[in-house]
Amino acid sequence: MVDTLSLYERSGGTPFFEGLVNCFYEGVEGDPILRPIYPELDLAGARHRLTLFLIQYWGGPTIYNDERGHPRLRMRHAPFAIGPAERDRWLVHMRAAVAEMHPVDDVAAELEHYFTMAAEAMRNRD
Ligand code: HEM
Repeated sequence: MVDTLSLYERSGGTPFFEGLVNCFYEGVEGDPILRPIYPELDLAGARHRLTLFLIQYWGGPTIYNDERGHPRLRMRHAPFAIGPAERDRWLVHMRAAVAEMHPVDDVAAELEHYFTMAAEAMRNRD
């Protein structure tokens, strides 16, 4: 009954999302367009929040909600100027991180679909 398993379970769970988010932030760290947008000197907090959010979103433990409350992601991104360039750089690093994690094809396709849609949804400038 593979169909009833969440993406969290099919991907390998928490270690998969920790690896994904670590790869992603390595890319952000070296990105001259994106890095200045992230407010913290050290990206550990951002890493922690994105990891917990993705775990929860894909059907894993709901620790994100316990720590942060309802995600309200558009509202939480409102303080940051996110135009097409920022959205596209974010996707470059997330796609590279997904590729690096070598998920099975259906997991890769679902992540690609979600990140493309959600990154556009976070855009708050032309
Ligand atoms: C698929 C799209 C995206 C998802 C799922 C996502 C997810 C998240 C999450 C969960 C947080 C932490 C929220 C909190 O609890 O405070 C966050 C913070 C942030 N995101 Fe995004 N994000 C997305 C797209 C973007 C894009 C396109 C940018 C462009 C620059 C961006 C920039 C930021 C920044 C600067 C923060 C603050 C970092 C921090 O948590 O300290 N995000 N994002």
